[in-house]
Amino acid sequence: MCGIVGYVGNKNAQDFLISGLKRLEYRGYDSAGIVTLDKDGNATLLRAKGKIINLEEKLAKNKREDKIGIGHTRWATHGEPSETNAHPHQAGDIYLVHNGIIENYKELKATLTEHEFKSETDTEVLAALVESFYQGGAHPLINAVVQALKLVKGTYGIAVVSTKAPDEIVVARAGSPLVIGVGHDETLIASDASALVGHTKQAIYLNDGEVALIHKDSIEIKTLNAEPVSAKVEMIETNLAAIQKGGYEHFLLKEIMEQPESLKETLRGRVNLETGTVRLGGPGLSEEKLRKIKHLVIVGCGTAYHAGLLAGYYIEQFTPEITIETVIASEYRYRSAYIPKDSVALIVSQSGETADTLACLREIKKQGVPTIGIVNAIGSTIAREVDGGTYVHVGPEISVASTKAFTSQMIAMVMFGLTIAQAKGVKPGVLYPYIKEIANLPEMIRKTLEQVHDDVKRVAEAHKKYEHAIYLGRDTAYPAAMEGALKLKEISYVDANAYAFGELKHGPLALIDDRFLEFALVPKGPLFDKAISNVQEVLARGGHVIVVTNTDFDLPVEDVIRIPGEIEHFAPMLMNLVSQLFAYYMTVAKGYNVDQPRNLAKSVTVE
Ligand code: AGP
Repeated sequence: MCGIVGYVGNKNAQDFLISGLKRLEYRGYDSAGIVTLDKDGNATLLRAKGKIINLEEKLAKNKREDKIGIGHTRWATHGEPSETNAHPHQAGDIYLVHNGIIENYKELKATLTEHEFKSETDTEVLAALVESFYQGGAHPLINAVVQALKLVKGTYGIAVVSTKAPDEIVVARAGSPLVIGVGHDETLIASDASALVGHTKQAIYLNDGEVALIHKDSIEIKTLNAEPVSAKVEMIETNLAAIQKGGYEHFLLKEIMEQPESLKETLRGRVNLETGTVRLGGPGLSEEKLRKIKHLVIVGCGTAYHAGLLAGYYIEQFTPEITIETVIASEYRYRSAYIPKDSVALIVSQSGETADTLACLREIKKQGVPTIGIVNAIGSTIAREVDGGTYVHVGPEISVASTKAFTSQMIAMVMFGLTIAQAKGVKPGVLYPYIKEIANLPEMIRKTLEQVHDDVKRVAEAHKKYEHAIYLGRDTAYPAAMEGALKLKEISYVDANAYAFGELKHGPLALIDDRFLEFALVPKGPLFDKAISNVQEVLARGGHVIVVTNTDFDLPVEDVIRIPGEIEHFAPMLMNLVSQLFAYYMTVAKGYNVDQPRNLAKSVTVE
């Protein structure tokens, strides 16, 4: 969603702001803008609707040597995407950029009669509010910001500059991330550490309720109640290669293809084939607490939710006396759900910033239930607020469509399930087949991607005319089918939905006609014959069926994509690689934007 960058130092601020905004492009946006100040406080404000290239065109005619500035990519919430609604917003001497939503902006706006509003945004209200306390520089900028924020209800990450103080930036956060990069004679800010990579390795992650006064050589942090905060400087672990395409045409393809390596990182030091055990340090639950767990609530949105659903199917296979409920965060946060005694909640999020998931985490904590994060982004809000956690360590996921995170989230949760089962004394013979497959998965993913790649590309191109698709699966292949449908929907704009095979006769079978293609995940196993009968029923009604399988069958389907047969339990996970590639090549064939699909953002930080 929206992105923030800022710079104060000895280098050209416009250069950093533009390159920083480009790094944040993947989050999704519809307009962008920057403002820089020269040493006398003269401001150069540049804003443009659409892609950053439009902003760069304006920049080419307005090059400055300014050494301080702030910038923003906007994802419209209040008011349409337009240049006027793009940030930074100005009020008197103040320029302000903002991520999040000011919920009481209408009430505040009604009190700000002296300001002539130009945009429809809640952000301009905040700028005007700061200005009303700043009074043309009569008070320190940080004091004016603090006074304004005390009146605000909602979420924000903000950066503010003033023409009257052209050597300082004030930043603050409540519910929307802000990272301060500590450099040599320069300080950088960003809403996402990826914008800082290559500039500095040292970062301070601001906490909710904190505000910072930033100069090129100093950073002072305090709470809104004026209590000083001693900042913890952390290392940014991401390197430049991890946020570049590395020779691939799209980030999505790169991220699909790097899954053998990314899963290896998830497993590193956690799986021991010699002892046949799994060890996760992060959750921090004693053997006794693990033994007592009777109920798991798994919370996530979109792909993270699907990863939780699939993991739940596995965990209940090998863990006795456990009830698992996987829930969509945006629903769960408003339900009156009762969480029984001896429960643990798994909070699943790639970005660690998803607003609904974060809200659930806070609700669940209020009930005294231990929370465990299954998170990728290090230092993210969810990672910091959970009681314990397991980072999946897949590195930055840039493409809006989540791929490598799904694979690793799912396996990380299964590993957590295995640690519960170990503590509950489940026989090693029951757990070993799962552990052995997990240890082999990176290699099996590599083999699958190599084996299916050309076939999937061919099949996707052959089916590019379809606008409707049904994904089908039973048991563990069902959540995998749901994830496959989401992938196709979000990047190829194909109306794709998933159904459990057994549900076909209860409604969806009526859809089968020439407009629809059916994508069936059919692994060998106890339900293989039943799934094949369902495929037959679809064929009998003129369906256009593509089957993904790891075994043989004899049916006149339109295409078959075969994955390696060695993996039994986790075959649906390998089938999901086929779905990922299928969505990718379908999108390329249709000519759409692969990495930044319309209307979507990588990290959904507003409700
Ligand atoms: C998946 O491809 C998505 N773009 C989306 O569903 C995503 O998984 C969801 O928004 C959750 O994000 P998170 O993992 O960062 O919380």
